[in-house]
Amino acid sequence: MPKLSINVDHVATLRQARKADEPDPVAAAIASEMAGADGITIHLRSDRRHIQDRDLKMLRGVVKTALNLEMASTEEMLEIALKIKPDMATLVPERDGEITTEGGLDVSGNFEQLNQAIGKLQLNGMVVSLFVNPDEESIKTAAKLRADYVEINTDSYADAKSAADQIIQLERLEKMAGLAHRLNVGINMGHGLNYRNITNLSQIPHIHEFSIGHAIVARAVLVGFEKAVKEMLELVKKWK
Ligand code: PXP
Repeated sequence: MPKLSINVDHVATLRQARKADEPDPVAAAIASEMAGADGITIHLRSDRRHIQDRDLKMLRGVVKTALNLEMASTEEMLEIALKIKPDMATLVPERDGEITTEGGLDVSGNFEQLNQAIGKLQLNGMVVSLFVNPDEESIKTAAKLRADYVEINTDSYADAKSAADQIIQLERLEKMAGLAHRLNVGINMGHGLNYRNITNLSQIPHIHEFSIGHAIVARAVLVGFEKAVKEMLELVKKWK
């Protein structure tokens, strides 16, 4: 049964809109765990637009499930990860000014740099995941890099403009999950997932974990964190 990690970045986005001290992503993480979430995800961006260093430190202290740190593979972020030691580090590309992560890593183009970063993180006890697009080359290269997991980018499925295209994208994700499984790489998925598009996806075999943020935080603003998390957990774990 797939797990669900809740990305609480946008609780921090709301806080940073007023440079205030609430709402607190730490409180959201605790509420998520109380509702049954399997993990908590945050992205500490180099521009610190939402999650702050203080959030990461506090979450390391309070998260009882598993803390996943999304991070660019930069010297600054590696130093922070090696110090704080999240349970999992998910390496993502980062571009100044982007609204959200725009696509998967160029794993082949950054092979040597990623190889070194993965080695350092794994040697220090962290599980490493690479955010990749659903293409064979990225998944095969992630396996060569001995990443523990790939997080397959679900944008093409989430943004499909027709039902027919959505089916094509779903089949592509299933094929890529099958490939990663055969290559012995664990499978996470995320980006753009919501209460409407998760159900078809959660039927795909071998998925270890979904990482979902915006849709859950958006719903939580209206119905509360506990209800928003529980409703998503029901959909993610529907196909026992
Ligand atoms: N996975 C990655 C690599 C991301 O960068 C994000 C956004 O921070 C997510 C998953 C969650 O995406 P969403 O907020 O659309 O659920």
